Amino acid sequence: MRSHYCGELNATHVGEEVQVCGWVHRRRDHGGVIFLDIRDRTGIIQVVFDPDTEDSFRTADSVRNEFVLLAKGRVRPRPDGTVNPDMPTGEIEVLGLELDILNAAQTPPFQLDDHSAAGEDVRLKYRYMDLRRPEMQHKMRVRANISSQVRQYLEDNGYWEVETPTLSRVTPEGARDYLVPSRTHPGQFFALPQSPQVYKQLLMMAGMDRYYQIARCYRDEDLRADRQPEFTQIDIEASFVSQQDVMDMTEGMLRQVFSKVLDTELPEFPVIGWDSAMRDYGSDRPDLRNPLKLVDIGDLMASVEFKVFNGPANDPKGRVVALRAPGGAQLSRKVIDDYTEFVGRYGAKGLAYIKVNDLSAGEDGLQSPILKFLTPEITSQVLERVGAEDGDLVFFGADKASVVNDSIGALRNELGAQLGLVEDGFKPCWVVDWPMFAEGRDGTLGAEHHPFTQPTCTPDELLAEPLAAKAAAYDVVLNGYELGGGSLRIHDQKMQAAVFEALKMGQEAQSKFGFLLDALQYGCPPHGGIALGLDRLVMLLTDSQSIREVIAFPKTQTAACLMMSAPNDVDDHQLRDLHIRLRGPAA
Ligand code: AMO
Ligand code: AMP
Repeated sequence: MRSHYCGELNATHVGEEVQVCGWVHRRRDHGGVIFLDIRDRTGIIQVVFDPDTEDSFRTADSVRNEFVLLAKGRVRPRPDGTVNPDMPTGEIEVLGLELDILNAAQTPPFQLDDHSAAGEDVRLKYRYMDLRRPEMQHKMRVRANISSQVRQYLEDNGYWEVETPTLSRVTPEGARDYLVPSRTHPGQFFALPQSPQVYKQLLMMAGMDRYYQIARCYRDEDLRADRQPEFTQIDIEASFVSQQDVMDMTEGMLRQVFSKVLDTELPEFPVIGWDSAMRDYGSDRPDLRNPLKLVDIGDLMASVEFKVFNGPANDPKGRVVALRAPGGAQLSRKVIDDYTEFVGRYGAKGLAYIKVNDLSAGEDGLQSPILKFLTPEITSQVLERVGAEDGDLVFFGADKASVVNDSIGALRNELGAQLGLVEDGFKPCWVVDWPMFAEGRDGTLGAEHHPFTQPTCTPDELLAEPLAAKAAAYDVVLNGYELGGGSLRIHDQKMQAAVFEALKMGQEAQSKFGFLLDALQYGCPPHGGIALGLDRLVMLLTDSQSIREVIAFPKTQTAACLMMSAPNDVDDHQLRDLHIRLRGPAA
C-alpha cells in the first residue's frame, strides 16, 4: 500500500508523490488547514490538508487519534519558521491529496506519548496500544537487533542452533517449576524447563560440539524488577573447551552486540575472584561504576567494649566492615535514619556511623553514637584505614557475614546512586572461583550454580569438606546486574555422584537424573557453557528500569497477564480430561 515509511521521508523527497500508511498520532485544526501527524514504526510525518482538496479535507476533519489511514500527497519543504528541528522529518511535510480511512478507532485508554504517564496496569491491559508508542517500538527494535547480532556471532563461530523441549522434567536451577498435567498419563505432570541445562549437556554427549539456543525459560519464583516468570536465555554450550575459551567467546559476543547495536566499545572485563567480590563489594554482582568499597575492620574491633562489634569480630562466621561515604557528613539525621531502616530490610540490626567534621580536631571533630565504645586510638585507626576526610560519613556493619554483605552491599549501591558517585557508561566484569555449595538458612547444602558444575577438587575432597570446595563457575556481570552465568560441567560419573551425595540427593538423584548419570558413562566429552539473560541485556542496552519494559507481553509482579486475564479458570470437562479435581480455595 505504501511507497515510503513515514519516518524515511526527508528533504531529498521534495517534489515526489508519496503514499504513507499509519496511525493518527495527533490532529490539529489551524484555522481552515488540518494537520495530521501520521505515525508508523519508523517515525512521524506531518500531512497537511487544505480545503482545496474538498473530499480529503472532509475526511481529515473527521479522523481522530489512532485512526488507521492511507494518505497520498506531495512532499514539500515546510514554510519558513515552521521547521521542527526536534523531528527527523521536521524539515518537510506532505501536502495531502487523497485520504482513506482504513479503520476507525475508539478513544485510546491513555495518551500514546513517548514517555507514558499512564499507570503500568492500564498499559499492560492494552499492551497492543502501549507497544505503538515510539519508546516501546524502539525497545522492541533494539531487542530484535541484539538477537540478530547474537545469532550472527554464534553462527560465525560455528555454533548450531538446536531446539530443546519445553514439555520436560524438573530442572536443577533451584526455583519452583511450572507444571503441566498430562492427559495421557493420569496423575503425571510435565515441568516447563527452568533452563535447557540438561538438554544442552546431552547435546554435547551427542557430539554436537557447539550449541546455542535463544531459549524460553520458566521459573516460578518471587518476582523483582529484573525477573520474569517466563524469560529468555541466550543459551550456549561447547565441548573440549576451557573456562577461558567460554569467557573469551562470551566477551567477543557482548563486544559485538554493544558495538553493532549501541555503537559502544565495552572496556576491559576485569576478572574478580568471588571472595574478593564479597570482600570489597559485599556482592557477587558488583557494580564497578560505583567507587565505594567495604573495608574490613574486624581485627580492630576484636577487643573493643562494644558487644555489637566485638561479637561478630570474634565469630568466624561474623564480619565487621566500614563503608566511607565521601561528602556524607552533610546527610541529615532523617536521611541516616532512613538508611538504618533500609539496611534493616536486609537483616541488619542497626547502622552505626561516624560523621567526620574536622579530623584535625580529634574526637571533638567527630559526631557518632558509638565513639563512647571505642578508644581514640581505635577510632583513628579505623578512620585512617577507610581513608576518611573532612566532610565524610563512615557507616559500620557488624553481624553474620551474610547479613553484613547483603545489607552494606545494598547500602553501597544506594549511597553510590544518591551521592552521585556512579559513573556513566558500562562496566562489565567476570566473577570467578565460586564456592561449589552454599549453606541455606536451615543449614542444608545447596549448589551455588547447579549440581552439574565442575568442582575444582577431587570427589573425596568434595565430600570431606563440601563448603570449602570451589567450582569452575563464572558469572558475567554488567553495571551491577548478573547478566549471565556458566561453568565447566562434570563429565565424570563418579564426580557427579559425589555432588549428588554431598547434596544428600541419593535416591532422588537416581530418579530425577538417572538418565544423566547413565549418559555420562557412554563417552561424555569435557564441556562447558554459559547462559545470558536476553531480557536483562536488552534492559541494559535500552537503559530500562524494569524487565517488563523490554518484553512485548510481560507478566505482572504477581505473574499474571492483564491483557488476556491469564491464568484463568478452565472448564470442568478440561479438568476431567486431565484427571484433576480442584480442592477449592484454601481456607
Ligand atoms: P542461571 O540460573 O544463572 O543459569 O540463569 C542464567 C541467566 O538467566 C537470567 N535469568 C533471568 N532473567 C529474567 N528473569 C528470571 N527469572 C531469570 N532467571 C535467570 C540471568 C541469569 O544470569 N543453566 C544455567 C546456565 C549455565 O550454567 O550455562 C542457568 O540457567 O541473566
Ligand atoms: P545501640 O547501643 O544499640 O544504641 O547502638 C549504637 C549504634 O550502633 C546505633 O547507631 C546502632 O544503629 C548501631 N548498631 C547496632 N547494631 C548494629 C550492627 N549490627 N551493625 C552496625 N551498627 C549497629
